[in-house]
Amino acid sequence: MADARSGAYEILQRVDEGGYADLLLDSWLQRHPGLDPRERGLLTELVYGVLRLRGQLDFALAPLCRQALNRLEPATLRLLRIGAYQLLALDRVPAHAAVHATVELAKQVGMGRVSGLVNGVLRSLQRQQATLVWPTSATPGPYLEHVCSLPAWLATALRTQFGDADALALGEALAAPAPHTVRVNTLRCDRETFLAALAADGHEARPCRFAPEGVIIDKRGAAPLPGAGEGWYQVQDEASMLIAHLLAAKPGEQILDACAAPGGKTTHLAALSDNRCPIIALDKHPQRVKLVESGAQRLGATTITARTWDLTIPPDFIAPASLDRILVDAPCSGLGVLRRNPESRWTRTADDVVQLAALQQTILATVAPLLKPGGTLIYSVCTFTPAETDAVVAAFQEAHADFVRDDPRSDLPTHWAELFAADGTLRTRPQDHDGMDAFYAVRFRRNEGR
Ligand SMILES: C[S@@+](CC[C@H](N)C(=O)[O-])C[C@H]1O[C@@H](n2cnc3c(N)ncnc32)[C@H](O)[C@@H]1O
Repeated sequence: MADARSGAYEILQRVDEGGYADLLLDSWLQRHPGLDPRERGLLTELVYGVLRLRGQLDFALAPLCRQALNRLEPATLRLLRIGAYQLLALDRVPAHAAVHATVELAKQVGMGRVSGLVNGVLRSLQRQQATLVWPTSATPGPYLEHVCSLPAWLATALRTQFGDADALALGEALAAPAPHTVRVNTLRCDRETFLAALAADGHEARPCRFAPEGVIIDKRGAAPLPGAGEGWYQVQDEASMLIAHLLAAKPGEQILDACAAPGGKTTHLAALSDNRCPIIALDKHPQRVKLVESGAQRLGATTITARTWDLTIPPDFIAPASLDRILVDAPCSGLGVLRRNPESRWTRTADDVVQLAALQQTILATVAPLLKPGGTLIYSVCTFTPAETDAVVAAFQEAHADFVRDDPRSDLPTHWAELFAADGTLRTRPQDHDGMDAFYAVRFRRNEGR
């Protein structure tokens, strides 16, 4: 019989083999439709929690194991992390039940031979957890690594970039669960109706402070969210919702969404224009282009043409200087959305940042000639590394004298000002802006008459 813990074990194993937690979780839940809602909640919490807090769990487990953790069999370490997460982070599971359930899990997944070790280590942790000495913020490096659960290279990079105080605040924010935020699909529903339907179904929710179509669900009731089948909403972080507003397209304008999949911003652009802007949505990966198409269909976005294209190559089907607006929501290290893709904490490397920055520059250079004089281009990423943000923008400006920085604040509500730096760069941070993901965006205008 499938249950939350064996599901979590299976998913975490697949993540260790290179899979993505969110996709694996969705497909596991689809294959087990009868699972009790409480078990579904526990499964999600175990998968995301173990990945998010792995640094913390390993800090607690390491002194209790005779071998170094990286010398343990991966399956044994996985079991220990699942048990340790329940002991350290889950109030609703009594400690003895957490240990017992993990020992049973070891037997259930064919690892009965290590059930004694699992039992011994977790019992030691249970006894010692109250007296465990965690690093404090007085030692920022160890604190970021072992309490905020960041890999060492990223802990160092944060301290270098932001200084200790901001690095600690960001590290803490990234270690907390992300808010459950959805974008109301205004093609099908309005925010007041959706909020009323949520309340009627027993969910606790409130409007986002900035995005006018954003809703934060603070506490889910037992019922499914209303309007799922009718395309009333799209799961999307508030920071991600801001980007389509920055593009400020007018009805009838031709938009290119250059790196579109899975299509959260494409369908948002369609909704903001009330299906009155033709949108070309490109992405390199055919499987992901299908997600744009299915999302558009589900949400009733009718003006999107999705196509597979690698934008290191100029798209020969788009005429030069023909587009009014271009969004480059570029592939990036995703460090600003670590809470939502928790495995990337452990898979991303400093080398990735260098390679992605080069790709971002190439994609920008490919699409720039497609913009009309007077047209608008947004460059956005869900990360904060200098190499993928300011350095890409500086290199683009250096090579494209006909593109000038354009301050988006004039098109936006005044209270959004706090999200922008003085030069008009959008920089959201989870510790400052209602728990939003960390996004970066810059707007350019192409000079007339060139
Ligand atoms: C940050 S994601 C885009 C998210 C999307 N805008 C949304 O809001 O749903 C970046 C996308 O760029 C795509 N990509 C990566 N390399 C690319 C390339 N060379 N050309 C076009 N798309 C690329 C990836 O497949 C990925 O879907």
